[in-house]
Amino acid sequence: MDKNAAHRTNMIGGDEVDAISVEWDKRVVHETNSLFWDTTGNDILGAIALPFYGAFVSEERRRLFGDVSGKKVLEIGCGSGQSLQYLGERQASELWGIDLSENQIEKTRQQLTEHGLSATLICSPMEEECGLPENYFDFVYSIYALGWTTDLEGTFRRIASYLKKDGVFIFSWSHPIHKCVAAENDKLVFKKCYFDESWYSVSLGENTLALSDRTLSTYVNALAKAGFVIEQMIEESDDELVQANGSDFAKKAKMLPVTFVVKARKP
Ligand SMILES: C[S@@+](CC[C@H](N)C(=O)[O-])C[C@H]1O[C@@H](n2cnc3c(N)ncnc32)[C@H](O)[C@@H]1O
Repeated sequence: MDKNAAHRTNMIGGDEVDAISVEWDKRVVHETNSLFWDTTGNDILGAIALPFYGAFVSEERRRLFGDVSGKKVLEIGCGSGQSLQYLGERQASELWGIDLSENQIEKTRQQLTEHGLSATLICSPMEEECGLPENYFDFVYSIYALGWTTDLEGTFRRIASYLKKDGVFIFSWSHPIHKCVAAENDKLVFKKCYFDESWYSVSLGENTLALSDRTLSTYVNALAKAGFVIEQMIEESDDELVQANGSDFAKKAKMLPVTFVVKARKP
């Protein structure tokens, strides 16, 4: 496997896709991804939202949030708005969300309005100053959105600044080993170098997205640098969700983690 190959295989969701290496440029990444999420993003990738942290890990079983009644919560990359709805229906006192895409912000607003809820919503890249209050939130969380950042350490530093002392940060993302391995004829085949964190683009339908796959240690070290204490990390799938699914993706999830979830605290 050539680490610098222009074309390479990658996994998006449960599918194998052709990825093209791209030069890292924050502005281009934001333009590409906001266009993707403003147009077909949700139709292609669908919402991943609480109570699910990913296809096979659920808050109902893991109880990372616990009781959120009276708590101020902020979602990074609020997308469909379904996670904010879930926490609003469990009596969180304030709902806040930020997202890169105007379209996704509008989706969140509609979703919440339909369920008699409201939130303070900000359209901004998570990497940038966007007027969010500091030392304010009991929970900051993100379900499959954190990995889109162009600046992981800076984003974690910002998230730490939004949290109160002892506030909790929970996020889920594709497990980096899942991004390297494809299921082929009942075999798992390594397709990409685990250590390759370079940016790539993938064409899905009429649109393109830009991503990079960071290793698990990159996430852990960036959390430590931002001053977080990790309380729990989940790599295992929930058995009952895997059994109930039965797809090739579920078969893969029996063999390796497809999602990871981190719960960390600001000391
Ligand atoms: C897979 S979706 C999130 C799924 C979400 N949990 C839901 O319920 O739809 C990823 C979200 O991250 C947003 N996003 C991508 N890059 C971002 C960035 N740099 N800053 C903030 N949001 C971003 C996208 O617009 C999209 O809404």
